[in-house]
Amino acid sequence: AVRSVILGCGAYLPEKILTNDDLARMVNTSDDWITERTGIKQRHIAAEGELTSDMAVAAAEQALERAGRRPNDIDLIVLATSTPDNTFPATATTVQARLGIHHGAAFDLQAVCTGFVYALATADNFIKTGQVKRALVIGSETFSRILDWDDRGTCVLFGDGAGAVVLEAQPARGDDTDRGVLGTYLHSDGRYKEMLYVDGGPSSTGTTGHLRMQGREVFRFAVNKIAAVIEEALEDHKLGASDVDWFVPHQANQRILTSTANKIGLPDEKIVITLDRHGNTSAASIPLALNVAYEDGRIKEDDLVLLEAMGGGFTWGAALVRW
Ligand code: ACO
Repeated sequence: AVRSVILGCGAYLPEKILTNDDLARMVNTSDDWITERTGIKQRHIAAEGELTSDMAVAAAEQALERAGRRPNDIDLIVLATSTPDNTFPATATTVQARLGIHHGAAFDLQAVCTGFVYALATADNFIKTGQVKRALVIGSETFSRILDWDDRGTCVLFGDGAGAVVLEAQPARGDDTDRGVLGTYLHSDGRYKEMLYVDGGPSSTGTTGHLRMQGREVFRFAVNKIAAVIEEALEDHKLGASDVDWFVPHQANQRILTSTANKIGLPDEKIVITLDRHGNTSAASIPLALNVAYEDGRIKEDDLVLLEAMGGGFTWGAALVRW
């Protein structure tokens, strides 16, 4: 058997920080309201002219360095984003060029906040079929550019940033003691488009548009579907919550995270939370959180890591990875 092993991770956050107090000077909100409802205290915002590709390149370079691999070792780049530099070409090809890679394939993947889980699943399947040996999986977002900064219900939730991992094909025993991606579980249901979408696009309005959301409905759906897909992943491997070393969820809302984790019996100490510092960075939030838990020494080799996300579409999914 062959497994896609995570050899290294990396991340990038823009320098500029926007605190809840800063936001309270822009719209009718308060630090108390945002903290209590979401757990967010601050978010990073890309500088003028700082693009999704710039952040993706920075995160990828750090991941490559930690993996001990050179750009030319990579034969696939999958970049999860809903905020590409341009409508086309794919931002992944810009990243490919900036890294000096002229072989293999690079493409963007669009599954909104579930983008990183979808991208990891995609790259893992390319590796398992033997089509590629090493892949860069990146989540990079500049959501600040698609927010309606007059809508207090959404502009307080999101931030910018990027994270990346390097995957490499390695021979494995074929059981759950293997290092690498052990399983991925993807779902979508397009009937819920209206609950979370961007009201623009090249084919509909010819504009970029702004994010629109029915927060309460998204919240309700998220809690149920996230718990279900986590159970699906654990049951598929006959594992229990106690086998999981680290739960690294998409960072949307503190209440969603804690209630789903507790619902399936995961204690608070196992949840990696970056929401307070990063806000919701959509497809970048999981690799950013992985990077934080790697850097502070929590995630170590052979740890079982459970990833989970839910976002526009709706899309949702989970992945089980032995680090
Ligand atoms: N500051 C102050 N008041 C606010 C703000 C704000 N920033 N935003 C909304 N309000 C007000 C509303 O206008 C409303 O006032 P009203 O009662 O006078 O009409 C009141 O607060 C309650 O609004 P709700 O939207 O019902 O508040 P709720 O408790 O549901 O919290 C929130 C809103 C935080 C958006 C929550 O619904 C949520 O987190 N939902 C999940 C959405 C999410 O995470 N989306 C991310 C993308 S999908 C994903 O990643 C999972």
